[in-house]
Amino acid sequence: MADPTLPRPFRSVLYIPGANQRALEKAATLDCDAIIFDLEDAVAPEEKTRARALVAEMLATVDYGHRAKIVRMNALDTEWGRADCLTYADVRPDAILVPKVSRPAHVDAVATLVPDLPLWAMMETAVVAWHAADIAAHPRIEGFVVGTNDLAKDIGARFRPDRMPLLTAMSLCLLAGKAHGRIVVDGVYNAFKDDEGLRAECNQGRDMGFDGKTLIHPAQIAIANEVFAPSAAEIEQARRQIDAYAEAERAGKGVAVVDGKIVEKLHVVAAERILARAEAIEAR
Ligand code: COA
Ligand code: MG
Repeated sequence: MADPTLPRPFRSVLYIPGANQRALEKAATLDCDAIIFDLEDAVAPEEKTRARALVAEMLATVDYGHRAKIVRMNALDTEWGRADCLTYADVRPDAILVPKVSRPAHVDAVATLVPDLPLWAMMETAVVAWHAADIAAHPRIEGFVVGTNDLAKDIGARFRPDRMPLLTAMSLCLLAGKAHGRIVVDGVYNAFKDDEGLRAECNQGRDMGFDGKTLIHPAQIAIANEVFAPSAAEIEQARRQIDAYAEAERAGKGVAVVDGKIVEKLHVVAAERILARAEAIEAR
């Protein structure tokens, strides 16, 4: 059982189409930190009802172990959204992911139908950046997924390896989420056979502050797990920073120096966070 005082890792968050029984079974053996059981865009309209029941059955009968179980519902303005909410209020996954959230009212509406599960929001509309802070502040929100595909579609942006056209919206959602202590996960990398491109995009997301990446294929898990985990060098440096700062404090100083760089209390807080993340991954 994971230590509840440690932060739960969300390095690799794998989507599974809710109508795909084989993939739903396979997911219980994959090394991802979380699974999004998708009832929304990966499920065709004629499959919606079957997928809703199939995912409910799988969640009731399959042991997904340490993996966080998140169900992505259909939006409430579709014909399936309300039944999704009512079904999963009973089935009780770890969280419900609400698609195309643009305003806090979209979260309120789901919160009313699902009284006591954590909610996540897909941040993926052009307007959402203006409301991100209020959505992040919603007491039922636990995490954000920045939906870069829908965002690009809404904006009319082109795909670019540096994601420059999306960075403003991505950053605003990230800032809002982090300001409220929420988990914030990056969008998917569509070219699931391009490991190099995936790694570059994971590096970019990690450097921005994302907790992990949403994935579409099992082959993407290992790279996300590696990139979003603290490296051995980071762990080692964090330990030395903590030790050096403690030493400086004992000598009556508020500042230490490690590898020619200043270490203040705030660096110690960041270093402790790195160690807690490493420990949580280890404990998983
Ligand atoms: N989750 C779990 N297992 C998956 C999976 C996923 N997202 N994607 C593929 N697999 C499994 C397949 O079932 C297959 O298992 P098997 O070898 O035991 O039969 C294995 O991984 C290899 O699959 P592969 O043949 O390489 O992929 P594919 O061509 O069948 O499917 C996609 C490719 C992209 C269509 C598929 O990965 C997919 O549907 N991904 C999720 C898409 C999604 O959810 N989108 C919504 C959010 S953007
Ligand atoms: Mg979407």
